[in-house]
Amino acid sequence: MIGLSIFFLKNYENNNYIIETLALDGSAKEGDALFKINCVGCHGITARGLVGPDLHSVTQRLNDKEIINQVTGGLTPPMPSFEIDSESMSNLLKYLHTL
Ligand code: HEC
Repeated sequence: MIGLSIFFLKNYENNNYIIETLALDGSAKEGDALFKINCVGCHGITARGLVGPDLHSVTQRLNDKEIINQVTGGLTPPMPSFEIDSESMSNLLKYLHTL
């Protein structure tokens, strides 16, 4: 039972974070800067892929919610989970949509 309530609590917080992020209208320019600091090591300076996959048209393969889960979830090592505020996450999403 305890395990279950923790699961629901985490899930609830996670949902709130996603709702908050999706409600924001991020800046692609800020997202680009964030990407250059945090993501290029694996996805390449132009997001064409290195260790991690090419992210061009990723927004056609995955919806925003799935991308948020990918970035914050740590579900696919070696990609780490990023603790990122909803504003920055929104900026990153905006940037990924420009690719
Ligand atoms: C340590 C390397 C590493 C870093 C740093 C990293 N990634 Fe990844 N990323 C990966 C790998 C590897 C995958 C492929 C995971 C899989 O599905 O097997 C991936 C997958 C993804 C995917 C899903 C691609 C798809 O086609 O399914 C997205 C979106 C993504 N990364 C975004 C980001 C963003 C945004 C950042 C920076 C905040 C980032 N990644 C930082 C390694 C990394």
